[in-house]
Amino acid sequence: MKVACGRASQELGAKIAKKLSAPLIESEFKVFPDGEQYVRLKEEVDEHVVLVQSTPTDSDFLNLLFMLDALRYNEVTAVIPYMGYARQDKEFEKGESISIRALAEVLDPKVTKLITVDVHDEEIKRFFDSVEFENVTAFKELAKELKKKKNQVVVAPDHGAITYAETVAKELGCKYDFLDKKRKSETDVEIKTKEIDVEKKEVILVDDMVSTGGTISTAINVLKNQGAENIKVVITHPVFAMNSIQKIYSAGADEIISTDTIEKSISTVSVADPIIEAIK
Ligand code: R5P
Repeated sequence: MKVACGRASQELGAKIAKKLSAPLIESEFKVFPDGEQYVRLKEEVDEHVVLVQSTPTDSDFLNLLFMLDALRYNEVTAVIPYMGYARQDKEFEKGESISIRALAEVLDPKVTKLITVDVHDEEIKRFFDSVEFENVTAFKELAKELKKKKNQVVVAPDHGAITYAETVAKELGCKYDFLDKKRKSETDVEIKTKEIDVEKKEVILVDDMVSTGGTISTAINVLKNQGAENIKVVITHPVFAMNSIQKIYSAGADEIISTDTIEKSISTVSVADPIIEAIK
């Protein structure tokens, strides 16, 4: 087995290769003057390949496709730690494209197994016909970064993130709860005040990702109004679009902890171990 990394997951791919004691395939990436991408594997490969590439942008998805094309005669396990477009998984309004279905149909014939991390909804597996689909969680790794404290509670900003709250609360041995969120626009959400015991407590606020920061900053406002003393934001995917980091700290967060599914300076926790478990 060998490991190849797309251009968005160079460090994580190298970590996975090292931990698996598998050689890394060296690749060349460049962009032509007209903006088109170029990919070349610098060696011949005839083994099973684990290809690691997150797809936070359209060009990262193209990079994944070009890597898969270069590996077209190999058996490939694709690791897509952050899978872009996974949130457009249904026709919310008539006539809409189901973006993740379109991408799944392209990937399906090209890979044997697909591993994702805290994908928005595991049910996207229905869009794959032949791929073995496995979604792993980063929240056990994230919980290791947190110190157990007496006055601690884990909170999810909506019901969709409840399993993440449950996982972290189990590791910390504390209670967990969720808030009631309604999305008003791409950047704004509404969270109703709910009887939830956060007064003078450290709140661990968990979610799969921060994009615009609308969800997390609104949740922080609600929790602060209800007396939360300290708020740690713990998320898997650091998308952090626009001024979201600033927005979250301005709302009153004390710390943000996130992973290397998207490689940024804030990605302090690695998802290499849960991915390796799924590869084995
Ligand atoms: C949505 O259901 C997700 O779990 C996140 O809460 C959401 O995508 C975060 O987006 P934003 O940071 O833009 O509120």
